[in-house]
This record gives sequence, C-alpha cells and structure tokens, in this order.
Amino acid sequence: MRPSRILLVGFMGSGKSRVGADLASRLDWRFADADDVVEREVGITIAEIFSTLGEPRFRALEDGATRTLLMEDRVVIASGGGWSAVPGRLRDLSADTATVWLRVSAEEALRRAENQPRSRPLLRVSDALSAARELLQVRAPLYAEAHHEVDTEGFSVEDVSTRVLELLGLYESTTGTE
Ligand code: S3P
Repeated sequence: MRPSRILLVGFMGSGKSRVGADLASRLDWRFADADDVVEREVGITIAEIFSTLGEPRFRALEDGATRTLLMEDRVVIASGGGWSAVPGRLRDLSADTATVWLRVSAEEALRRAENQPRSRPLLRVSDALSAARELLQVRAPLYAEAHHEVDTEGFSVEDVSTRVLELLGLYESTTGTE
C-alpha cells in the first residue's frame, strides 16, 4: 500500500527533523515536527514546558499534537523521541501510516545534540551518556515496532532519506522516472 503519511521515530538526535524535512521536500509533501507544534501551541520551549508544567503535561501535549498531525495526508512527521516509546503506540496506527525508525547510538546522539540549539531536558543531567544509554536500551524494543529501520551513523541526511524512500517504494516517484 502506498503510504498516505510517514512517521519518523527514534531517539533524540537520530535526525528525524532533518531527514523528515528532506523527505517532505523530495515528495512534495508537508513536513511537520511535533516538538515545534507543541512549542508553538504553548508559546514556550520544550525545556521550559518540562521545567514549568512538568513532563506529564508535556507528554499529553505531545500526544495531542502528534495525533492531530497523524490525521493529515501527504505529510512527513518527525515525532518526539518519547512519543513512540509508549507500548502499543506504533501498533495502533492506521495501515496507511508508514513508520520508520532512524537508528543512532547513544554516543552519536549526544554528539549531535550538543551541536543543536534545542535543548533536551532528559539529557541535561550530570552523566548524560549513561542516561542516554539507559533510555535507549528501554526504548529500542518499542522503536523496533516501526515498519522499517534505517541506520543513520556515517550517512548524510540525503543518504538516509533516499534509503527511506526506497524502503517505502517511493523513490521512483521522486526522481521523475515513474
Ligand atoms: C524527548 C525528545 C525530544 C523532545 C523532548 C523529549 C524524548 O524530541 O520531545 O525533549 O523523550 O526523547 P527529539 O526526539 O526531537 O529530540
């Protein structure tokens, strides 16, 4: 079945936003980042939401934003790293939603996060590497429920999005050879 939307899942720093934007532009679909939607809705950053409203409130806002995005067609969605890490979330999606796990190690995720403006409250702890490793270990089996998985380390954003398009049978539709 040709997907109506693509949901990218995976750990912080796995490249969901950058790959998602590239995929959307190649498909001529809309790109949406669930974290951005939440920040726009509440008017403060994710880090501020965590510190002032608390993580449970953030999770509720994130779930609402993600579910609203999942009602759209022709959209590539970068989910927040925690959304798909709840048991059953990926299994309950409609059949025309293609899910792809972008894989990254805890070490590389931290390296990338350091170079990005958005701060990740869950990684702002004294031993961020141990925290990231533990979180990733717990989440990996849930991310693995995605239809497809793609390694990101050592690959460019374009390489990763090409691989996603190939896996979903959409590559030809972006090259004008169909
Ligand atoms: C989180 C990931 C972040 C953001 C929040 C919590 C998580 O999104 O939603 O900091 O629990 O993994 P990214 O995966 O886009 O960094």
